[in-house]
Amino acid sequence: MRLLDLFCGAGGAAMGYHRAGFDEIVGVDILPQPRYPFTFVQADALEYLAVHGGDFDLIHASPPCQAYSALRCLPWLKDRTYPELIEPVRAALRRSGRPYVIENVERAPLLNGLTLCGRMFGLPIYRHRQFECSDVLLSPGHAPHDVVIGHGRMVNDRRKGTLNAGSAKGAWGQQSIITVAGGQCRKDEAARALGIDWMSKPELMQAIPPAYTEYIGRQLLAPGAAAG
Ligand SMILES: C[S@@+](CC[C@H](N)C(=O)[O-])C[C@H]1O[C@@H](n2cnc3c(N)ncnc32)[C@H](O)[C@@H]1O
Repeated sequence: MRLLDLFCGAGGAAMGYHRAGFDEIVGVDILPQPRYPFTFVQADALEYLAVHGGDFDLIHASPPCQAYSALRCLPWLKDRTYPELIEPVRAALRRSGRPYVIENVERAPLLNGLTLCGRMFGLPIYRHRQFECSDVLLSPGHAPHDVVIGHGRMVNDRRKGTLNAGSAKGAWGQQSIITVAGGQCRKDEAARALGIDWMSKPELMQAIPPAYTEYIGRQLLAPGAAAG
């Protein structure tokens, strides 16, 4: 099964689809992605989609989220402008006629969005991401966010490497919940929390856990589903 992975970054989303059963994956990004684990094409996503979209069984798109991110409200970012790509990406995906998934942050204007969180997959991270799909997607249960990410005392503590007020003392051991937002974590912690072992730290900051797209990919490959 062929997957086109638009705005692919270093391949967090792609790895999940691969684990679900997609065996031919082409990633497209405007920047070089030397650690992308599948076939990589450096190009503009919408230009590539217009020419090649019809060749794939499923198209995934992760357009940049800065325009919709809560971090935009920070005083030093609030006057910046960022491209709002969701609508043009959706229109182009619909023109392709192929089944599609668009991934973005919770505040992005996605339609019928399914929200996934690391806690749904046993990952020690709260990272909500929304998925719009041309097919109907089922949601796993979402356990409460039962461990509080600490504030103040350990913020920017690079030696302890976490924002979690409990983890340095081992209060939650391997179950420490971290945030990777803003890069306030150690690379090894982010890699463990996301379930990704091949990326640099800046790449990890942008990636989604492969567990999310493995979950979606398995649904879409089931007999009778969009790509099945
Ligand atoms: C949120 S990151 C993708 C993360 C990736 N899905 C993952 O899980 O690892 C968005 C990516 O879009 C790329 N990008 C931005 N504008 C683009 C464009 N016009 N065409 C292709 N890629 C673009 C950025 O270089 C960045 O790598």
